[in-house]
Amino acid sequence: MCGIIGYIGDKPALPILIDGLKKLEYRGYDSAGVAVHNGKQININKAKGRLTVLEERIKHSQLNGTLGIGHTRWATHGEPSDINSHPHTNQLGDIAVVHNGIIENYMRLKSWLQREGYEFTSDTDTEVVAHIINYYYNGDLVEAVRNTLDRIEGSYALAVIAKNHPECMVVARKDSPLVIGLGEGENFIASDIPALLRYTRKVYFLEDKEIALICKDGVNIINQYGEEVKKEVFEVTWDVEAAEKGGYQHFMLKEIHEEPKALRDTLTSRIREGRIELSDIGITREQLEKVGKILIVACGTAYHAGIVGKYVIEKLVRIPVDAEIASEFRYRDPIINENNIVIIISQSGETADTLAAMRLCKEKGAKVIAITNVVGSTLAREADHVLYTWAGPEIAVASTKAYITQLLCLYLMALDFADKMGRISQEEYRQMIEEMQKLPELAQKVLDNKQIIQKCADETFNANSIFYIGRGLDYAVAVEGSLKLKEISYIHSEAYAAGELKHGTIALIEDGTPVVALATQKNLFEKTLSNIKEVKARGAFVIAVAVEGHAEIEMEVNRVIYIPPTHNMLAPILMVIPLQLYAYYVAVAKGCDVDKPRNLAKSVTVE
Ligand code: AGP
Repeated sequence: MCGIIGYIGDKPALPILIDGLKKLEYRGYDSAGVAVHNGKQININKAKGRLTVLEERIKHSQLNGTLGIGHTRWATHGEPSDINSHPHTNQLGDIAVVHNGIIENYMRLKSWLQREGYEFTSDTDTEVVAHIINYYYNGDLVEAVRNTLDRIEGSYALAVIAKNHPECMVVARKDSPLVIGLGEGENFIASDIPALLRYTRKVYFLEDKEIALICKDGVNIINQYGEEVKKEVFEVTWDVEAAEKGGYQHFMLKEIHEEPKALRDTLTSRIREGRIELSDIGITREQLEKVGKILIVACGTAYHAGIVGKYVIEKLVRIPVDAEIASEFRYRDPIINENNIVIIISQSGETADTLAAMRLCKEKGAKVIAITNVVGSTLAREADHVLYTWAGPEIAVASTKAYITQLLCLYLMALDFADKMGRISQEEYRQMIEEMQKLPELAQKVLDNKQIIQKCADETFNANSIFYIGRGLDYAVAVEGSLKLKEISYIHSEAYAAGELKHGTIALIEDGTPVVALATQKNLFEKTLSNIKEVKARGAFVIAVAVEGHAEIEMEVNRVIYIPPTHNMLAPILMVIPLQLYAYYVAVAKGCDVDKPRNLAKSVTVE
């Protein structure tokens, strides 16, 4: 997704812009550009491709100045090209704009501007913004931006600089994130905190429809009616190291290795003296008794965490749960009322479809609980209550540590609800907490056993298609394992409920087809073993994931990856780790760009 950076102060802006854009690369992009004000005029350079292309071009250009804005673009309107890259300007080139989001009514605005005599150079929706600001500009840049925002529909994080204003920039947001970093005699803007950490830990989060005038010595924020807005400074506690690669070849590998810590941090935040502390979520027994249904809504990996959540909540709490894909849910006129609890899951807290689903549920009166990893994200701010996953910044596009902490939050919630409803004994509750507290250590054991996973990857990375099978919770995790593999290795993959294979998909199994079979669920072990035999008989190369102590599986498969014993219901947290590592090693063996897979963005802030 697009990334925005901006600087005003006494230092040369360009290196700060480029450094910030590098920190935002994880969001995914296909082109990049910068605009720097040299005190007299605005100079722009932009290029299709990676930031290195832009850096190469900049070497031969004059981009001096202490005020600038930069952008990484993920194309929505108009193909990735130099022309369509941001910044965009008005005709004279004295107003420059970078934008993240989509201007939904841009066609109408473009026709109107063309009738007014404005000429367009790009195919983007963003270019209308520069022209409309020009249309309204009469010496007051903030007012021109405010009038422009009145005319545009859609989502935006915007940063604007103008030739006549060498000492300030104007920014605004609606439905796309924008953070203002506060320095001494300098200020910054960015789409996300990691881009600012090197310079400041003090930030303001801009809210929807707010506009900020940012100068080197101050920040003035107004709302859409022009009224002044006072904000609390937010102190960021992440350390800079946490946002860097720290010795690993890829962010994804580093983030998988951070899973024990992520689990520990998430547990510590919510377990006090052997009891789950969710009082801030404010769900009472009376409310739970009235709840007809719990909904879990999310996209991608977060949705897959929701599928596990469905199994676990239904099993423990005995309330029906639907896990829903946000982009489907929001458009199908779902049946929701004030008696529903809706759990919205999103690592970034900025996924457009997920946010839209959350708003829909709130409109219908349901109680919305967010599970998110990003403090201050739109989801965190707008949901009724938040359970943070303490995974730390996740930079790799493929979500790993966020997923297992999302699972942990769902377990905590399920156990807390079951306790409130009197659906489990105090003994079971205590045992489950004890098992949960062992998870960080057990996760470390899985990581320590990674050679066998690497071996499996080396043996199968040339496959055209890899299948994942499992039953119950094993199936719920198979779906995530399969997604992980396809997104980073580009190998076709499908996950199937093992019992469903014989209804069609088994026709695809031929000699040597790799099948990853998950067989961790005690009650379903024998059944899964039968399905393994079915695919093995058709020539599949079977890699099983099983719990230590089930050595009988070795007779039926080609390779076994063992996970340490844990409570049956908690097994997803441990069994997903080998699947993440397997996908990683396959992608590395294939020479893929693991952290930035093609066509994908870390944070999907457009529909
Ligand atoms: C995960 O590996 C994917 N890149 C993707 O499915 C992701 O989980 C999805 O886009 C949702 O993102 P969110 O958790 O930030 O809302």
